Amino acid sequence: MNASIEFNGNKYELPVVKGSENEHAIDISTLRVATKGLITLDRGYKNTGSCESGITFLDGEKGILRYRGYAIEELAENAGFLEVAYLLIFGELPSKAELEKFHQDIKNESQVDEDVKKILDGFPKSAHPMGVVSSLTSALIAFNPGSVNVDSKEDMYQAIVKIMGKFPVLCAWALRKKAGQPLDYGDDSLGYIDNILKMMFKKPNQEYKINPVVSSALNKLLILHADHEQNCSASTVRIVGSSHAGLFASISAGVSALWGPLHGGANQAVIEMLEAIKEDGGDTKKYMAKAKDKDDPFRLMGFGHRVYKNFDPRAKIIKKSADEVLGDLGIQDPVLDIAKGLEKEALEDNYFVDRKLYPNVDFYSGIIYRALGIPTEMFTVMFALGRLPGWIAQWREMRLMKEPIGRPRQIYVGETYRPYMEISNR
Ligand code: SDX
Repeated sequence: MNASIEFNGNKYELPVVKGSENEHAIDISTLRVATKGLITLDRGYKNTGSCESGITFLDGEKGILRYRGYAIEELAENAGFLEVAYLLIFGELPSKAELEKFHQDIKNESQVDEDVKKILDGFPKSAHPMGVVSSLTSALIAFNPGSVNVDSKEDMYQAIVKIMGKFPVLCAWALRKKAGQPLDYGDDSLGYIDNILKMMFKKPNQEYKINPVVSSALNKLLILHADHEQNCSASTVRIVGSSHAGLFASISAGVSALWGPLHGGANQAVIEMLEAIKEDGGDTKKYMAKAKDKDDPFRLMGFGHRVYKNFDPRAKIIKKSADEVLGDLGIQDPVLDIAKGLEKEALEDNYFVDRKLYPNVDFYSGIIYRALGIPTEMFTVMFALGRLPGWIAQWREMRLMKEPIGRPRQIYVGETYRPYMEISNR
């Protein structure tokens, strides 16, 4: 199948590729050469595919999300996070033996060089944990030089189990640094999720007891955040990785991209917004008006999505889980009611309905994180912990498919040629 375009009186045929879910794309790889210079322009890549990928499928109109063909609803309900990580990275759900080996290989690599603590010491307590985690992830390169420009599947596997083991330690250390607590290495006898909880919350003078409600809630949340095809941070990981800068550098860049309030940083911004509304006496109408006011930069955080023009399936699951977790933990959080009220108002408001703006993954997640005792500034770090296997999967696929270095074109709109002027004449 082809698409044809006419330009400057000439007609050009371009191949159309079709994906396994019947999506179609015009392959413009030959466009510039065939037309002697014509390129496409697509701000924010709203209409442009960067790759063919077999990892995650989204249908924004139908609110479908699948990891390697498995529905997010089934994975969130039945799977363990490490099982889903293995699925995303290697393409298949692991057998019991494969999962145990993967976990053991990760445990064997979960020590972080003591000198990394000296870098952590250099940060002020006020440092945002996302900046700390991004920096320490990049610093890991210096202590694992063999994990940089890896080409073989085996070398990639070694780099993958290293980052899967060390990244949660760095995230827990960022929290403990802020809380003024000694750094903890967790406990190899625990599962991946329970070890994260223990590293984050164990008090030096107390036993840490795993609360099964907290453990199950975190497992589900990290699964829901594990991948989301070519989002801003995954695209960042791919393009940094395409220069062969290595997995750790690519993940560090992905953490930085996720930090932005328009992306993963929205989960922190949502809670701050809900708290502001609560302080304002719960006046949601004022904030709805601000969100709709073109002259007001305020946005209804946690609402809207580049791809989902229907409900974000993850938001539905998280909203249901919020009620269950707060109920199980016996927590009354007034911002949950404010969030539900805001959602109801927005879904009845033409501004949001016309623009197909629905709650996204970030709208309710912070309410659960807060109930689990996670500080607001750590919410986006929790998103990064969930997204780590997705970033790894995207990086590995890009490298195994030997994708070329990412280097977009542009349309120049600056000054045309002008001769140099001596400073005495300026
Ligand atoms: C994530 O890409 C992914 O998959 C991301 C993610 C993942 O798992 O990786 O799903 C995670 O990042 C979720 C999104 C979290 N961000 C937020 O909740 C921040 C608030 N949302 C928006 O900033 C916005 O909706 C985006 C960034 C999410 C999407 O922006 P787009 O696709 O570029 O849409 P747009 O900015 O062009 O908006 C279209 C219209 C505009 O109005 P008009 O100019 O047409 O009149 O909708 C309006 C926007 O002003 N709009 C909003 C709004 N979001 C869009 N108006 C008020 N509040 C909002 N939240």
